Amino acid sequence: MERPNWAPGELDLTVPSAARVYDYYLGGSHNFAVDRAQARQAIEQWPLLPAALRANRAFLRRAVKFCLTQGIRQFLDIGSGIPTVGNVHEIAQAFDPACRIAYVDVDPIAVAHSRLMLSDNPNTAVIQADLRKPEDVLDSPEVRELLDLSQPTAVLFVAVLHFIADEEDPAGLVGRYLDAVPSGSYLVLSHGSSEGAPQRAAQHEDLYQRTGSRIFMRSHQRVLTYFGDCELLPPGLSQMTQWRPEPDDEYWGSPEQLSGFTGVAYKA
Ligand SMILES: C[S@@+](CC[C@H](N)C(=O)[O-])C[C@H]1O[C@@H](n2cnc3c(N)ncnc32)[C@H](O)[C@@H]1O
Repeated sequence: MERPNWAPGELDLTVPSAARVYDYYLGGSHNFAVDRAQARQAIEQWPLLPAALRANRAFLRRAVKFCLTQGIRQFLDIGSGIPTVGNVHEIAQAFDPACRIAYVDVDPIAVAHSRLMLSDNPNTAVIQADLRKPEDVLDSPEVRELLDLSQPTAVLFVAVLHFIADEEDPAGLVGRYLDAVPSGSYLVLSHGSSEGAPQRAAQHEDLYQRTGSRIFMRSHQRVLTYFGDCELLPPGLSQMTQWRPEPDDEYWGSPEQLSGFTGVAYKA
């Protein structure tokens, strides 16, 4: 089996990973046959899936730019993925080179690549951790050294909470991270949705389940609960392409077909 030199030796290449499947959807090259097989099946069921994920990425860009205009200069990006075009540090440091960004992912390839890409960028850190253990992230020496968590921070959960089961309490987990940052901070969130096409959502969940990982497509009402006490900013929890769209955005399909919700909230 192929094992490129960037793949850690202990990695099981027979099990797909959410990070590498996502990399394939976005046209990246850090994925294996098993990831591509899963991604192709998903695209067969849902041809607009790659377009949906590009729309998610475009939301990430607009939301980071919005936080920058609100004075935010530090970002905690949880479930940051394999680096691809338009990473948070690229957007933020183009605006202000002093911006600091801590990337967190559980996937060893996402982490290895992020570290490689950022080795000469002192205003970034990459932490391999599971978001379900907030203390592993918040108390990590890298995060503590890079970010001043007494200052307003943007906490990003972009396309990651749908990998967390209800019994693992996504809302409670988001709350733990938001408790660690002061008033004036922002929460940026996107999530796969079951609305509009429940049958397709069920197929998508079933495919992930069969290939060894789990995904949970959720309703608008459920995702709303993840914002806790934060003040959801206009236009509220919206379809991905509807959150403060910009004229140059390029999209395929109707917003509903893309099946995802996006929102940004303020911690008062
Ligand atoms: C769909 S990608 C999203 C990447 C990026 N945030 C974006 O929207 O472009 C989801 C990422 O979440 C990571 N992830 C999944 N479960 C996680 C967990 N429990 N802790 C940390 N990261 C996790 C995956 O490894 C993957 O890289």
